[in-house]
Amino acid sequence: MTSSTVRPRTAVAAITAGPGLAERARAVLPTAAHAFYAAGADEQISAGEAAGAWRSRRLAPRVLRDVSAVDTGTELLGSRLDSPVLAGPTAFHRMAHDEGETATAAGVAAAGSLMVLSSRATRYPEDVAAAAGPWWYQVYWLRDRDLTRRQVERATAAGARALVLTVDAPYVPPRATGGLPLPLPQDDELCRSVGVATRLPGWEQDPSVGLGAIAELGRISGLPVLVKGVLRADDAQACVTAGAAGVIVSNHGGRQLDRAVATADVLPPVAAAVGDRVPVLVDGGIETGTDVLIALALGARAVLVGRPVLWALALDGADGVASLLNSYRSQLETAMALAGAARLDDIHADLLHG
Ligand SMILES: Cc1cc2nc3c(=O)[nH]c(=O)nc-3n(C[C@H](O)[C@H](O)[C@H](O)COP(=O)(O)O)c2cc1C
Repeated sequence: MTSSTVRPRTAVAAITAGPGLAERARAVLPTAAHAFYAAGADEQISAGEAAGAWRSRRLAPRVLRDVSAVDTGTELLGSRLDSPVLAGPTAFHRMAHDEGETATAAGVAAAGSLMVLSSRATRYPEDVAAAAGPWWYQVYWLRDRDLTRRQVERATAAGARALVLTVDAPYVPPRATGGLPLPLPQDDELCRSVGVATRLPGWEQDPSVGLGAIAELGRISGLPVLVKGVLRADDAQACVTAGAAGVIVSNHGGRQLDRAVATADVLPPVAAAVGDRVPVLVDGGIETGTDVLIALALGARAVLVGRPVLWALALDGADGVASLLNSYRSQLETAMALAGAARLDDIHADLLHG
């Protein structure tokens, strides 16, 4: 990709979290890039259902609680954050903005949040780290173990505070756009910036990977390892028993198994199975601060957002990402105040109706 594939931008109106963002981003992104980011797998049923599963929940607000000061601050695996809305791992940010993941990291840091850097990034981890606040590194267990190890060692040396092992992608199914729209891996600089060229043999995920990978990644890195892509209580239990430091309820934004259940629907049983042992996070279709409130009421400690960050990055780079995350936080503050919850610890299942 060359920078000319991203159209020039003019002054951008403030970016607000909400369902209209994807449409706004359409105006600044090359058509193929927009389609690649938006796509779900196969018939896109799971991708289409994610947001609705949050929107269908109803709240039973408390009254006469002191909500004169609302605090969205939290601590997650040792990192103090201003907000429980994190930037999830998504590939190829340079399709959205010339500065790619470096701009994303700067925006996330400005909003006092945490970024999960994809192992399919288009900037060097060291450069991203220099711009970032706290960050975690997402990893696939690749057919080439040595590549996996080198990626992890590099991210660890660069300052990642945790690893996120994505487990819902033993294979990549057909997606609506039929794969990468732009000639990313042909670009020399980009290839180098991925750290390892993604076209090298062995870069595919190893479909034989099992629970042992969790402890092995911990051994290689000395970091806590969260497992991303869990949709079942029994799997969540098994991951925690195998040493997971956190569980991320996710169906990969509907990009893996189409018709996989909406994350809002399985969050409660997963959270119940895990209990207080490790934090449970969730992603998929979280578009507003009220969605975040509902996710926390259903048992999540924090949420991740994927596509909205890409849309904000495309619209206004680092400023766009900061503006988006600040908007989620301010919407969450309002929703918490109106629901009678002054702190994240006050958010429980009793806030949900039915
Ligand atoms: C364009 C795109 C690229 C993604 N790349 C990755 C990735 O490299 N690693 C990963 O674990 N998840 C990846 N995901 C999944 C996201 O981390 C996340 O689960 C999903 O996007 C959440 O749904 P949302 O986009 O509705 O917020 C990707 C998602 C999208 C849309």
